Amino acid sequence: MTEYKLALVGFGGVNRALAQLIAERNESWKKELGFTLKIVGVTDLFLGCVIGCEGLDAGQLANLPAVKGALAQLPGGDAEAFNEAVIKHSGADIVVEATFTNPVDGEPATSFCRWALEGSKHVVTTNKGPIALHAAELKDLARRNNVAFEYEGSVMSGTPVIRLAKQSLAGSSILGFEGILNGTSNFVLSSMEDGLGFAEAVSKAQELGYAEADPTADVEGHDVRLKVVILANELLDAKLNVSDVSCKGICGLNLSDIERARQDGARWKLIGAATRHADGSVSAHVEPRLLSNDHPLAGICGATNAVSFTTGLLGTVTVSGPGAGRTETAFALLSDIINIHQSVAHN
Ligand code: HSE
Repeated sequence: MTEYKLALVGFGGVNRALAQLIAERNESWKKELGFTLKIVGVTDLFLGCVIGCEGLDAGQLANLPAVKGALAQLPGGDAEAFNEAVIKHSGADIVVEATFTNPVDGEPATSFCRWALEGSKHVVTTNKGPIALHAAELKDLARRNNVAFEYEGSVMSGTPVIRLAKQSLAGSSILGFEGILNGTSNFVLSSMEDGLGFAEAVSKAQELGYAEADPTADVEGHDVRLKVVILANELLDAKLNVSDVSCKGICGLNLSDIERARQDGARWKLIGAATRHADGSVSAHVEPRLLSNDHPLAGICGATNAVSFTTGLLGTVTVSGPGAGRTETAFALLSDIINIHQSVAHN
């Protein structure tokens, strides 16, 4: 039976949810997926780090108290986060990177990915920073070291979108896309339709684990902008930088705007979109748009995301599903690991 050894980098909600899934489902994955997972290292700037080459108790990790230096309580643990040691020397085959997104330079996540790839370890990540800002370099590094670099969860958490479009829509001539790509802002807009105030709705999204460490990124559209860059570069062969995408969030909308839209049979949605033009150039933007209730994206409510691809051969293809959440995003990491397993099996 194949067993993959994992080093978890960042132990906030997402990697903790992955540890919980491992604790609950490892046995059933043997039969269902043909492999099991063993956690051999964890590192987190707040919690410290631990290395256990023989395997750490996933259930114990999932229930670790969220107090500073908590990993020091475990055998082999330390209150300090020795990230490089855990990434390079825990004996991991796969480094699972789920630290916070830094939209400015993608650090420290990008360095974590580099260290892992240079050490010939596969990387799976949900982090938008390294992908939106440094995908070309990291993909090249992975290729040169003959390992995988997977990031399905960086756009719509557990809902398949990148691989689905790249693999199942290959050859369909994707001409562009428009989508609801931020769970928090869509949750806030839906909550406001139910009469909740903006600030209250944002706090609720934070409690539910949808929002970024700094929720400004969600409501001002910066998070969607990163996702638009990732999708456009992956699927439309664009070479967009973050600054190429104009960006406006939902902070300017108030309860009376929402109510007026309702009376007019419409809804406000934060839309991220990109289009490939006849000359091959790609333009992209993020902005709140008033969609009439019969628009396919108007009915997407709460933390659900959706993206509609315009294709030359199939017309419009829409995918919708959870776009945020701890377990939902942890599932994306599992799907990346499954993809690695299947690629290894086919080589
Ligand atoms: N904060 C993001 C959202 C998480 O609300 O969609 C997933 O990228």
